[in-house]
Amino acid sequence: MIRNGQYIKDLFQLAPGTKATAHGWVKTRRDSKGVSFLQINDGSCFADLQIVIDAGVADPAVLVQATTGACVRVPGTMVESLGKGQSVELRAEGLEVLGAAPPETYPLQKKRHNLETLREFGHFRTRSNTFGAVFRVRNALAFAVHKFYQERGFLYVHSPILTTSDAEGAGAMFQVTTLDMMNLPRDPATKGIDFAQDFFGRPAFLTVSGQLEAEIFALAFTNCYTFGPTFRAENSNTPRHLAEFWMIEPEMAFCDLEGNQQVAEEFLKYLITYVMDHCKADLQFFQERYEPSLLPTLENVANNQFAHVTYTEAVSILEKSGRNWEFPVGWGSDLQSEHERYLTEEVFRKPVIVTDYPKSIKAFYMRANEDGRTVRAMDVLAPGIGEIIGGSQREERADVLVDRIREMGLDEKHYWWYLDLRCYGSVPHAGFGLGFERMMMYLTGMKNIRDVIPFPRTPGHADF
Ligand code: 4AD
Ligand code: MG
Repeated sequence: MIRNGQYIKDLFQLAPGTKATAHGWVKTRRDSKGVSFLQINDGSCFADLQIVIDAGVADPAVLVQATTGACVRVPGTMVESLGKGQSVELRAEGLEVLGAAPPETYPLQKKRHNLETLREFGHFRTRSNTFGAVFRVRNALAFAVHKFYQERGFLYVHSPILTTSDAEGAGAMFQVTTLDMMNLPRDPATKGIDFAQDFFGRPAFLTVSGQLEAEIFALAFTNCYTFGPTFRAENSNTPRHLAEFWMIEPEMAFCDLEGNQQVAEEFLKYLITYVMDHCKADLQFFQERYEPSLLPTLENVANNQFAHVTYTEAVSILEKSGRNWEFPVGWGSDLQSEHERYLTEEVFRKPVIVTDYPKSIKAFYMRANEDGRTVRAMDVLAPGIGEIIGGSQREERADVLVDRIREMGLDEKHYWWYLDLRCYGSVPHAGFGLGFERMMMYLTGMKNIRDVIPFPRTPGHADF
C-alpha cells in the first residue's frame, strides 16, 4: 500500500536528486524525439506529476501500454522541472504498467468531456481534474463539519436510516418492505395491505431527517449533531435536488431562534474558511473553470455578517420589486427559487436568514409565535443556491404541540415519544439541517448537485 511520504503530493516536496517511486493513473501522454512524458495522478492533490521516460529506459512492450487511464508504477529520481508549474518531476529509471487501459475502448480520452457525459461514467469520472477536485473538497468539508462540532462539545449521534416515523410530516418517503409484492397480505377487516406481517410489523421508510431522534439526544447531551444520508422521494428533477443526500443536523438544548441563527452563521463561515485554507489548488481550479467570482465571493461571505429578514419583510420586498414573478408572491405562499435568488443575489448580495414563516407552510414541530400565524422557523438562503439550511426553534410545550400535530392532520399516536420529551424535562431547544451537497455546490461553484456527490440518485437514475 501507499503510505505517508509516498503519495504524489509528498513527492512534490522532495529535493531534486532524491530517489522515489511514483504510483498513479496516467492522465495524458506525449512523445517527443524518443522521450515520453506522462502526467500521472493518484488523487492526493490537484497537480499531476510529470514523468520523463528517456529513450531506452522502459521496455518498449510496456511503454506502449502507458496510455491515458493506465495504472503505473515508476521508480526514478526527482529532478528539477524545466516546464512551468511544478518545481520537480520524476526522471524514470524503469516502468511498470499494472493495469493497461486500451485507448480504442477507454471512454475518457484526453479531450475534455462535458459533465453530463462524465456522469455516465461514474466509475471513471473520479479520475478527471474536475471530480478529483470535487471529492477532495468533499472530504475536507466532511472533516471540517466534525471538527466544528467536536471543538464546541457537541455529541455526534448516529440517527437511524430505517424509521417508522415521518420527521417532516410531509410525505415524500421511500417505503421499505420485505413483503412479497406479487402476493401482498391483506387485512381482512380493512382490505388494505396488512403491514403487521411486514418486517417491522408496520410500514417502514428511509428517513427524511434525523432531527426528531437528535432532539432525544439534545435533551440528554445538551448539544448534539447528526451527519448522515437522508432520503426524499419527491419527484423533483432540478439541479438542486437529490433523492439521497447528506445532511448535518445540529440540535441544541437551552437555545432559541437567535442562538440557532448564530450557530448557523458561525458554522457556514467556519466551513468556508476551512476549505479555503486546505483546498487552495482545487478552489483555484473551480474559479478558473466554472465560477470566475468564486474565491472573492467565499472570502466576502466568510468575513461579513449575514442579512436577516422576517418572512413578512421578505414578502413585502418581493411585492415592491415590480418584478413579473413566475410564481405569485403573497403572504402565506412559500418562497420559490426565483424569490430566494432575488433576495440573495439582487437585494442583499450575500447570504440571508429569513425567519418567522407562516405556520401553514412549515413542519409541525416549529415553535409557534405569539401572533398565532407564524412559527420560529429559519431558512438560510445563499446566492446562486437558494435554500442551503432549514431549521427552527422547536415547540417545547406539550399542549401546543399536540394541537399542531392534529391541525396538520398527523396521528399523535405516532409521535408518542416525541410528545413525552415535552412532558418530562422539556426545555427550549432549536436546531437546523444543512444540506451537505448544497454546501458543496456553494464552495465549488458547481451548478448541478449531481456533480458534487459520488453517486447521484435522482428520479430514474441509480447507477453504480
Ligand atoms: O429544510 P429541510 O427539509 O429541513 C429538515 O429536514 C429539518 N428536519 C432540518 C432540521 O431542522 N434539523 O432540509 C434541510 C436542508 C435544506 O435546507 C437543503 O439544504 C437540504 O437539506 N435538502 C436537500 N438537498 C438535496 N436534495 C434534496 N432533495 C434536499 N431537500 C433538502
Ligand atoms: Mg426547508
